[in-house]
Amino acid sequence: MNHLLKMLDLSPEEITEILNLADQLKYEQKHGIPHPHLAGQTLGMIFQKASTRTRVSFEVGMYQLGGSALFLSANDLQIGRGEPVQDTARVLSRFLDGIMIRTFAQSEVEALAQYGSIPIINGLTDFCHPCQVLADLMTIREHKGSLEGRKLCYIGDGNNMANSLIVGGLKAGMSVSVATPAGYKPDPQVLAFAAAYPGFTWTESPAEAAKDADALYTDVWASMGQEGEAEARKKVFAGYQINSELLQAAKPDALVLHCLPAHRGEEITDQVMESHPEIFDEAENRLHAQKAVLVKLMKRG
Ligand code: CP
Ligand code: NVA
Repeated sequence: MNHLLKMLDLSPEEITEILNLADQLKYEQKHGIPHPHLAGQTLGMIFQKASTRTRVSFEVGMYQLGGSALFLSANDLQIGRGEPVQDTARVLSRFLDGIMIRTFAQSEVEALAQYGSIPIINGLTDFCHPCQVLADLMTIREHKGSLEGRKLCYIGDGNNMANSLIVGGLKAGMSVSVATPAGYKPDPQVLAFAAAYPGFTWTESPAEAAKDADALYTDVWASMGQEGEAEARKKVFAGYQINSELLQAAKPDALVLHCLPAHRGEEITDQVMESHPEIFDEAENRLHAQKAVLVKLMKRG
């Protein structure tokens, strides 16, 4: 494993190794056991979109691993003025030990990996959000004890989160049900991948998808970059909400997960948010899961 570009690139074994290391690093952090695996190393963090969790968890994670992190706003880099990505990749590879990038096009992340000579981590693109899904799988395993055979249900827009959860969940041995409006299905590449798994289902009906789920997941109806469509999307997605009624269809002890930030009253109700604190375990696990990714990709020797 040289980069983390998308869940499609990871083997089931690599996913399990990351989750096991994440559990160990979480234990060490909670017990004050030092783990300076990346002493003296620097991670560059390029952001083309806003972030709370990704930025803070990567920065704190690098610090806890004995290294440091640089926040690089794409608007302030020459890449924002049109410097080619292949040149940026080569130059940053001379200074840094790894790059985390949050941007729009998946092809930009893939190009950084192609032209650079250091590990590249996808911190969210329009196509996928692998760091989030690793934290999500870690959270489900932590609460349920296992992933194999569990049912993960995603309700809402067939966006970057849906794409990553389908691939990550299926590779981890879960069954995955997805409910989206017909015109907002997950990416065709992801649907083609999922077609080989009997445990994958897609439907337009949230209640049908949620039936007997071990975890219900949702995300915003309008992602970053789609702000102009937000009003129109409110109408299309009106029935795609995690609320107390939908929870009745899932298992009685079902987890509720959300990558956050949430739009309470849209894809999830205030009441469900307030009664499912595991959503914040999930947010915390971004730190631990990403530290595992950083160690896997960047540790020397
Ligand atoms: N879930 C997530 O990636 O959050 P941020 O946008 O705050 O980084
Ligand atoms: N789908 C959301 C996820 C944010 C973490 C977005 O892309 O804005």
